[in-house]
Amino acid sequence: MDQRPIGMFDSGFGGLTVARAVIDLLPAEDIVYVGDTGRYPYGSKPQADVAAYARQIARFLIDEHDAKVIVVACNTAASAVDLASELPVPVVGVIEPGARALVSATRSGHVGVIGTVGTVGSGSYQRAVAAAADHLGAADIELACAACPGFVEFVERGVVTGDEITVLAERLLAPVREAKVDTLLLGCTHYPYLARVIGEVMGSEVVLVSSADETAFALRTLLDDTGLACRSTARTGRHTFLSSGDVDWFRALGRRLLGPELTEALPVSFPDP
Ligand code: DGL
Repeated sequence: MDQRPIGMFDSGFGGLTVARAVIDLLPAEDIVYVGDTGRYPYGSKPQADVAAYARQIARFLIDEHDAKVIVVACNTAASAVDLASELPVPVVGVIEPGARALVSATRSGHVGVIGTVGTVGSGSYQRAVAAAADHLGAADIELACAACPGFVEFVERGVVTGDEITVLAERLLAPVREAKVDTLLLGCTHYPYLARVIGEVMGSEVVLVSSADETAFALRTLLDDTGLACRSTARTGRHTFLSSGDVDWFRALGRRLLGPELTEALPVSFPDP
């Protein structure tokens, strides 16, 4: 039984959707979560900058917190750098689990992915969906992608419903609506918080897929396969939340978004990489 923590990170609050799923599925595991709110958003930044931030945070989680595994709870970071090839511990990203869930869920074969400018521009989902289709023997998958700049900023301000975000969603989701997708992957970990608005704009017949649960399942499999799991029923995991921005805001909004496990947010800072 390996009691070292799971290290997780995102540019801000989005990865809390993954943290929620991991806490629910693996309640005995300790988690150290970094929300890099001091440098968010990642989605509009050059890939090289995001890659440098991701490396820095992952190293911090391993060196300072003895993380046994790194969960990249951010599509933009996972699209910018392949940390698995660089780190001394296993890495779980959100992209492959999400792509597999998307291809499994579609009935018509017309699928969509929405994400940040960085994620969609990187081509990571185009590659991952093609690989998942190949792996699952799904021949006729047609993928439509749309970048949704602005969505993350609404979530970081704690605004997840209302006219302003609905008007923006109607404009940004037009390409995936026109492509008549029957299944839409929320390819940014912030977007599940906007599921009500996105669902309303897309229509109730479109299935929304979030990679959070799939990532938690992939993490469980990896921990079991590598002997790194901590599965005691007598143990409740400790959850530590760190923010590189305003910690009071992180605690207040984070608790609203994640739930009661987020009792405190501690400051963390990173030098310019
Ligand atoms: N939540 C992140 C993602 O999954 C990044 C959002 C951002 O900082 O732009 O892509």
